[in-house]
Amino acid sequence: MNLAQRYQQIRQHTEYICSPLQTEDYVVQPIEDVSPPKWHLGHTTWFFETFILKPYVPAYKEYNAEYNYVFNSYYESVGTRVIRTDRGNLSRPTVIDIYSYRKYVDEAMYHFLCGDVSAEVHELVILGFNHEEQHQELLYTDIKYILGHNPLFPVYSHEYKVPHQETAADSQFIQVPEGIYEIGFEGDGFCFDNELNRHKVYLNEYRISPNLVTNAEYLEFINSGGYHDFRHWHSEGWGWVNNNKVEAPLYWYLIDGHWHHYTYHGLQPLDMHGPATHISYFEAYAYAAWKGMRLPTEFEWEAASAKFNWGKRWEWTESSYLPYPGFSKAPGAIGEYNGKFMVNQKVLRGASEVTPPGHSRATYRNFFQTHLRWQFTGIRLAM
Ligand SMILES: [Fe+2]
Repeated sequence: MNLAQRYQQIRQHTEYICSPLQTEDYVVQPIEDVSPPKWHLGHTTWFFETFILKPYVPAYKEYNAEYNYVFNSYYESVGTRVIRTDRGNLSRPTVIDIYSYRKYVDEAMYHFLCGDVSAEVHELVILGFNHEEQHQELLYTDIKYILGHNPLFPVYSHEYKVPHQETAADSQFIQVPEGIYEIGFEGDGFCFDNELNRHKVYLNEYRISPNLVTNAEYLEFINSGGYHDFRHWHSEGWGWVNNNKVEAPLYWYLIDGHWHHYTYHGLQPLDMHGPATHISYFEAYAYAAWKGMRLPTEFEWEAASAKFNWGKRWEWTESSYLPYPGFSKAPGAIGEYNGKFMVNQKVLRGASEVTPPGHSRATYRNFFQTHLRWQFTGIRLAM
């Protein structure tokens, strides 16, 4: 598949994710972290227009100069923008306007990519693909939040296939010997700048679970009073539990004595064999502490990752999101992609059921703040 075809495929997939939505679903922003679907559609389009078409296609005419203010996410170098919390107040541009914007930019991009492009542009286009894929996952999680916080608990789509939630019978922890391990991306393919540079770390001997914690296992923590015992929690986590009256993972509901959870198929009885999901770092830490164990560091996770199946859930690690030795930011606006977020966040490893296939890898570093749980986050234990 050439670059132009790949462009079309990725862009069409984004629209496929939105195809079950009604117009009203595209507009709302129930919390700051959840963007309206129509904003994702416009922002990913703005990315290609701003970083490819405007600088590299002299004949390109900007679709609407005001869209830079509306669809710039966080790029200080590209100018002022609507504040994040106000994305849900934008009744204009309309959903129809945004689909027209996509079509206009897609035609220009497809035409451009059918010709020869420089290595520099090629690299930016691949970054644009990976950026769009990140927003595809955000669309899934933001749509789930929007529909899952509607009292009618609407079904997203019956066509959505929940992947097989494998629970391996082998519960023996994997023993990893002490030693020096190489961490970080190596090779010719794409990686984000935060996966570089590859470097050596020393690890003490450790053991890591081949499985994710299941809903049934997590329920034992709830039933044993885990949310009401400060000893399992960080001080900040204990404050979060009490201030928000947290009693269970996000989307869990106790109805007539039976636990249910909201899924893309609506409210369903809790799947006891499925991996625990929509867990904050605070909860992951507390669960591990209650078990007398801990979360792996991101280095332990990566060093052992070939020995277990991963990809069902983003797995909280005990590592702060920090630059690797020799990390450097790209010049210009693209340098704002990752580096400026390396404070007050934890690294998550793996991928989830809504991560586009092929998007993640063993060196991929996802990152979120410790209280957030609207992503498909889960727990793997270590000791
Ligand atoms: Fe973005």
